[in-house]
Amino acid sequence: MTILSPTWTAILYLVAAVCFILALKGLSSPKTARRGNLIGAAGALVAVITVFLSTKLDNIPWILAAIAVGAAIAAPVARRVQMTQMPQLVALFNGVGGGAAALVALLELGHTVVPEGETTGLYELTTVNAWVRVAIVFTLFVGAVSFSGSLVTFAKLQELMTTRPVVFPGLPVVMGLSILAAVAASVFVVITGEGWLAVVLLVLGLVTGVLLVLPVGGADVPIVISLLNAFTGLAVAASGLVLGNVLLVVAGTLVGASGTILTRAMASAMGRSVSGILFGAFRGGSTAGSTDVSDRPVRSSSAEDVAVLLGYAQRVIIVPGYGLAVAQGQHTVAELQAALEARGTEVVFAIHPVAGRMPGHMNVLLAEANVPYESLKEMSEVNGEFKQADVALVVGANDVVNPAAKSTPGSPIYGMPILEVEDARQVVFLKRSMRPGFAGIENELLYEPQTTLLFGDAKDSLAKVLTAVKAL
Ligand code: TAP
Repeated sequence: MTILSPTWTAILYLVAAVCFILALKGLSSPKTARRGNLIGAAGALVAVITVFLSTKLDNIPWILAAIAVGAAIAAPVARRVQMTQMPQLVALFNGVGGGAAALVALLELGHTVVPEGETTGLYELTTVNAWVRVAIVFTLFVGAVSFSGSLVTFAKLQELMTTRPVVFPGLPVVMGLSILAAVAASVFVVITGEGWLAVVLLVLGLVTGVLLVLPVGGADVPIVISLLNAFTGLAVAASGLVLGNVLLVVAGTLVGASGTILTRAMASAMGRSVSGILFGAFRGGSTAGSTDVSDRPVRSSSAEDVAVLLGYAQRVIIVPGYGLAVAQGQHTVAELQAALEARGTEVVFAIHPVAGRMPGHMNVLLAEANVPYESLKEMSEVNGEFKQADVALVVGANDVVNPAAKSTPGSPIYGMPILEVEDARQVVFLKRSMRPGFAGIENELLYEPQTTLLFGDAKDSLAKVLTAVKAL
């Protein structure tokens, strides 16, 4: 028995869809992101309750048990995760979404097959179930690609495997064959509705997902997470067609569209094309670079010397990066900004779109420390200002200031727009060692004559510099 009439069901689905759209709007700014998230969650809750009240469901205890197990695993993980590990978590959640859509499609295939005895062979294929089966094979394949691809990106970001591109001879051929086989299997599943062929298609999707992500390396991995997110959205939208559920179509389309926009925005922020990211390593393009730590001499200095440089400067540009987030130095860097401004120094923060490990990472981090929004400058706005800066203070950033992006064709970050800190009169790096950043390549700027290094954990170094500035 169902409690809700079709009209009420449609109204509640509309409410949920509006919540999802408002959530996306809210997520577009750090100021409203928290509210956006809550509105999205409320929309999802309305949607789930509506399904229970409007559909004749079998196996309700099993469904509730699955929800309880999922919630019991996901809630503590989401609470405990470090901000710096957020992309891995997104990859994992995204992958599970794609996998779920694929499993639903696999089960729904059975509903498109006329029961034994009533079958008329090939002619049982009607126009209606042919279209449903097209949606099923799409969901099955794309969902499986998203699931296995997301697991590989998770392993890369969690450093359970190398973050560098993995290519082997014949990879493009294997990949091409696996896609061709998937197309053939899809056609046969649509015609025959054979369950075992659908399982073959699922396996081909899993293999393709792994092969798609293995050659992507280092700095490009986050873009692939966003792309797979878009894939999951499309798979979910197609599963909405399979189940005849309009809200799934709407939600999946929103995820697909926003994931595609984010993918394009991140790719252009890194000066890449999406095809270059996915297939660049096939051409040997993005495998160059070295993780060897050089023993060439650098100029290192004490916190007191850095404090003098900063304290007597007129203009300072601070470049925050992943290391600031790891060290949780955001409050100390905010205090340093205030101390320098109290001395009459102009201080701004230069924000690179992919600094840190997720979109908007630095904005969120600095907002947490109440750094005024007016102090945060986007890359395009700030790059012209480095020439007038007395000091560029690079706190735990590396790839986003590495001039190899402009000067070294073949480097994994070649073509990525960078913050042009090398134009400043003095450059100070706060980092712990000579180890490279995420892309695994050396930064020549560390060896330039205008560069000074202050070795140590970013938070400790900032605290020492702050004390020394106050003592000037
Ligand atoms: P990275 O290039 O990864 O450099 C981080 C630097 O921080 C390293 O040089 C590291 O050197 C230093 N560091 C680490 N822990 C530190 C600590 N506790 N104290 C002081 N320094 C510390 O960071 P970035 O410049 O922000 O660039 C981001 C990179 O991540 C890009 O390649 C980007 O593509 C990639 N990525 C971005 C995203 C998004 S969407 N933002 C997502 C995933 C990946 P030491 O080890 O010597 O200290």
